[in-house]
Amino acid sequence: MPRANGTLAAPFPNPPPMNPLWIDTDMGFDDLAAVLAVAGTPGWSVAGLSLVAGNAPLTVVVDNALRAAACFGWRFPIHAGAAGPLVGELATAQSVLGDDAMVSAGRSLPRERTALTSEDAVGALADWLRASPAPVTVLALGPLTNIALLLQRHPDLAPRIVELMWMGGSAGPGNHTAAAEFNAIVDPESINEVLAAGVPLAMVGLDTCRQVRVDKADADALRALGTDRGVLLGDLLEGYVRIAGPDGRSAMALYDPTAAAALLAPGSVRFTPAHLVAECRGEHTRGMTVVEWRVPRKAAANARIATTADAATVRAAVLGALAVAARS
Ligand code: RIB
Ligand code: CA
Repeated sequence: MPRANGTLAAPFPNPPPMNPLWIDTDMGFDDLAAVLAVAGTPGWSVAGLSLVAGNAPLTVVVDNALRAAACFGWRFPIHAGAAGPLVGELATAQSVLGDDAMVSAGRSLPRERTALTSEDAVGALADWLRASPAPVTVLALGPLTNIALLLQRHPDLAPRIVELMWMGGSAGPGNHTAAAEFNAIVDPESINEVLAAGVPLAMVGLDTCRQVRVDKADADALRALGTDRGVLLGDLLEGYVRIAGPDGRSAMALYDPTAAAALLAPGSVRFTPAHLVAECRGEHTRGMTVVEWRVPRKAAANARIATTADAATVRAAVLGALAVAARS
């Protein structure tokens, strides 16, 4: 666009600063949707992925991430991290999500894959935190094992995390058990490690995520875009929707992308300060995230807990970004 004096304006004068976001993930479909939402939202970029066992064993999580990277042309670094929780054996969600933790109503991620940047996710995250010019945000979408290991090995880096946005826990009923949400029950000790380190945790639990639903019509809309990626994302989304009911007629809560939307669409998820602790010993309650709302009278606030989600805004942010990924 020529100016009055005949010079040309810069093609993109003063583009908005990119918010680099590190994402820790156990790469199921909702994780994939959350990563695509970040990558497809103007002003945001994925600084790197750290992978953690959860939805499936680490080898499957790595395979999903590298196949997604090849399929969607991701250029950011991808690092393998913890293969199990701080304490005890790994419990996965493969009984619900299938062996590949990406149950589909049709197509699956193509088998072509990129390569891991490293198998030291904790070291890579530590390096990124040190190199960042200011404290940064981390989005966690699985068990908090990698984050806890980072804080155990590099306690000096806790102040470099301005906020840990975590899809996990619940201020109400669980999903993996009556009391516990899946990410929390896989590694409840890691939650308390993060809290003890003083990292500002923002927990987006099941109770909030259940306010945002996706259904088969959303999958059909992606497939109607008529691209290979649109059909793939539509089939994977329908596979995710079928978690709520095998006939696909029930709507399914949108988990990880709702936590991402809390960052991408400011104000779409509201939080309240509260006291949080993870139950680690209860025979029936291990993994329960116990929220004490009566702060500071009963306890000191040590976290921000999500209470409400604006479903229309979250859906628009996430499904809009998936449509961008489908068309690109
Ligand atoms: O309970 C839901 C969480 O468990 C999501 O992060 C999903 O990806 C699984 O990891
Ligand atoms: Ca996840």
